[in-house]
Amino acid sequence: MCGIIGINSNKSVSATIINSLKKLEYRGYDSAGIATLSNGFINEIKSEGRVENLEKNSSVQNMEGNIGIGHVRWATHGLPNSINAHPHSSQNVSVVHNGIIENSTLLKKFLVSKGHKFKSQTDTEVIVHLITENLKTENIVNSIKKTLKALHGSFALGIIFKDQPDLIVGARRGSPLAVGYGPNENYLGSDSYALKSMTNKITYLNDGEFCVIKKDHVEFFNEDGTKINKKVLELSSEDEKYDKGDYKHFMAKEIEEQPITLKNGIKEYIDSANNDINIYNIPWKKNEISSITLIGCGTAYHSCLMAKYWFEELTSLDVNVDIASEFRYRKNRFKKDTLYVFVSQSGETADTYAALDLCKKNGMKTCSVVNVIESSIARDSEFVLPIHCGIEIGVASTKAFLGQILILYILALKLALVRGDLEKKDLSKKLKDLKELPKLVEKTLQTDNKIQNVSSTFNEAKGSMFLGRGFSYPIALEGALKLKELSYVHAEGYPAGEMKHGPLALIEEGMPVVVLAPRDTYYKKTISNMQEVIARGAKVLLITNKSSDEIISENIWETIEVESTNEDLLPFLLTIPLQKLAYYSALKKGLDIDKPRNLAKSVTVE
Ligand code: G6P
Repeated sequence: MCGIIGINSNKSVSATIINSLKKLEYRGYDSAGIATLSNGFINEIKSEGRVENLEKNSSVQNMEGNIGIGHVRWATHGLPNSINAHPHSSQNVSVVHNGIIENSTLLKKFLVSKGHKFKSQTDTEVIVHLITENLKTENIVNSIKKTLKALHGSFALGIIFKDQPDLIVGARRGSPLAVGYGPNENYLGSDSYALKSMTNKITYLNDGEFCVIKKDHVEFFNEDGTKINKKVLELSSEDEKYDKGDYKHFMAKEIEEQPITLKNGIKEYIDSANNDINIYNIPWKKNEISSITLIGCGTAYHSCLMAKYWFEELTSLDVNVDIASEFRYRKNRFKKDTLYVFVSQSGETADTYAALDLCKKNGMKTCSVVNVIESSIARDSEFVLPIHCGIEIGVASTKAFLGQILILYILALKLALVRGDLEKKDLSKKLKDLKELPKLVEKTLQTDNKIQNVSSTFNEAKGSMFLGRGFSYPIALEGALKLKELSYVHAEGYPAGEMKHGPLALIEEGMPVVVLAPRDTYYKKTISNMQEVIARGAKVLLITNKSSDEIISENIWETIEVESTNEDLLPFLLTIPLQKLAYYSALKKGLDIDKPRNLAKSVTVE
């Protein structure tokens, strides 16, 4: 997944392209590059690593050209170096690409046989040479049409041509792409966020469409080259400002912002006046649904797993959870009485989007829980529940996770209520507890010193385990994911009761193990599992909630107590120390916390 920008203007574009690339860095930060057109030549500058490396290049600062394209890369084909960085150019054409060309090897063979010379190891370079080849016999629109037809896989493309000083081509299949409109200039971008500082007038391309962007107008075409009309949407004109403030990292800020995330969600969805939940416009009848399938990737998948426990506890629905990349290729039995819920912070994750698309094509009911409300997943699902946590920059998701599980919990309560599984008086008690949650999270956030102290042990160990049962199991998975993505140490999340079926063999003297054992239905069982790992030499960090009862175990290495609340809501509180553990572990190792190696915030390739 990569980020794309294109600007066709009557003034110099390089500085604006660089600024937009900074906004797109959440899509990849392996390399960055820019190409502009001036005096009939394509100038191309690329550098390894962050956009700031590109910006420091003195040639970029003096780069001329009123038309240009830029790119930030998350490497798929070829090392993350400056040769493989985009744009890729021939003498005639320059291309930026987000996606994967699956038949690039075959196409390359054909193009080499025609005399084309390749410089990089990327799949993208075949697009450059294919267009160049097709331009020998076709006009621009037909050469693009012919090229797109030959490509298998997914792409969002931005293309400029040596002989066309007033034209950028954009094309989309699978990866998102938007067009923006400005005064005497027009834009192309991976999303509206990258374009927001320039315009709030946006058109989203659908799969199979391409466009020709001139300074004063934009033309759209479908796959077979027929001209089409498309709507211009007017988004909110506020360009959301978001900086680190006094924090060292966005992640630290985002962890601390979680009480606000919860307050926003509660304000939006809890109808205190009517003791109800403010989701009144669900487009299907309650007896139309007897099961629910929740789908996501990464942290969002953990939110889905978390939701399974709540949906099963609160409603009479059958509940399934799926990883989007698995779901999209399985032989699913689509049933009309199933509601499909897609969970995604960015709303652009390629696998989650493909799963949604598959459900739509099979006539299923679809609902999404997203943060970015202008995203593809939000736009294309039947019903959207935004999480309202604001921009999240840290690649490792924190506040969006709490936001997602909050909305899923609220949805479970609402469905339980309308289905008659939950009585109003019980809902009222649960809502009362929920309204207290932001304060409890705030207090739990103050548990800091102990986590800082234990974090080195997790860094220095060969590996660690995170164990939990019931409501705590998805949180254990999320805690392990946070530690590995930020600190680059092996961490495994496991259901505590499953240890004896294999993973117990990993436990050796001094291995750090996090045990999530709040005083809930599973408490005693989890404590027994904890004793089994202590007996085999594990150093246990117990995370439980405050209680007047003493902890029923000995030889625990360290204990952290979060605030207390009802059983449903404890997962929110247990998450906090795990996020901090991962943060401090990475901090002590001096790692790049907001942009961990090899990762990206929005994964728009499968
Ligand atoms: C990437 C991010 C994760 C995120 C996952 C799903 O891997 O690094 O933090 O959980 O994508 O993203 P989504 O935007 O769909 O929630």
